Amino acid sequence: MTTGTELPPRPADAAPGRRRPKTRTAATRVAWTWLVLSSLAIAAYAVVPYLTASLADLSDSGAGLASNYEGRPVVVQAAFYAHIVAGGLALVIGPFQFWRGLRDRYRSVHRWMGRAYLAAVAIAGVAGLVMAPFNEAGLVGLFGFGGLALLWLVTGWRAYRAIRRRDVASHRAWMMRNFALTYSAVTLRLWLGVLVTAQMLAGGGSVDFGDAFDNAYFAVPFLAWLPNLVVAEWLIRRRGLPSYRISNGAETTSPSRG
Ligand code: HEM
Repeated sequence: MTTGTELPPRPADAAPGRRRPKTRTAATRVAWTWLVLSSLAIAAYAVVPYLTASLADLSDSGAGLASNYEGRPVVVQAAFYAHIVAGGLALVIGPFQFWRGLRDRYRSVHRWMGRAYLAAVAIAGVAGLVMAPFNEAGLVGLFGFGGLALLWLVTGWRAYRAIRRRDVASHRAWMMRNFALTYSAVTLRLWLGVLVTAQMLAGGGSVDFGDAFDNAYFAVPFLAWLPNLVVAEWLIRRRGLPSYRISNGAETTSPSRG
């Protein structure tokens, strides 16, 4: 994050004399409120149980992934706890970083929350890499969750580097990509619900819940985050921020006209 001097104004929607249409402002507000509520709900629902009971107790009651991690080496269990605490923190802080009022009026709060957010992403991302080989979806999970962890770290680093060189537009774009990945904690659980329900309905009562869940779990290591990235890139272009392009074999970010 920056160390003192004021950041330049936002390039696209803060241009003098340019007003955003009311419907777009209302839609942005609704979307942001949804992001806040869903992120807080999943942070509480997914993380808190692991902080209130041991893996052994949770495993006996069949909760979450406890049975997968109960007998693992201590390094993997430590990574698991570091991941869910730091990941939960990133999910709770993340949406507030996109709140324009906070960014404009309390810039130092935005900076400190940003540092906490990126530190949380770094810890949870490295822990995610440690956990990926032990995940419950086998090779699909190794590549899906492993790829997600790598991109989470890379986008966080790019966002940090961008703001260190005072490139606010690129910082915003990389942060949008990064939070789209953080938000996979929410979309993963939504997709699981949708896929399990669809199978049960399609099977007309003949499908076992456990089988439906296992099937769905093999889809989510990629489904949880690839669509999020597409949506983030679309929003980045819509806002005139530097969008992602691959040209001549070299990866670049360049200003979008869209
Ligand atoms: C975006 C990058 C992320 C990666 C790469 C990642 C990776 C993983 C992996 C590999 C697992 C174990 C899966 C298995 O054993 O089958 C896991 C589980 C878990 N992660 Fe993440 N995760 C990410 C984000 C988050 C965030 C933001 C949170 C915040 C809530 C979070 C909370 C959890 C929890 C609570 C579990 C245990 C799930 C359960 O009990 O069902 N993760 N994650």
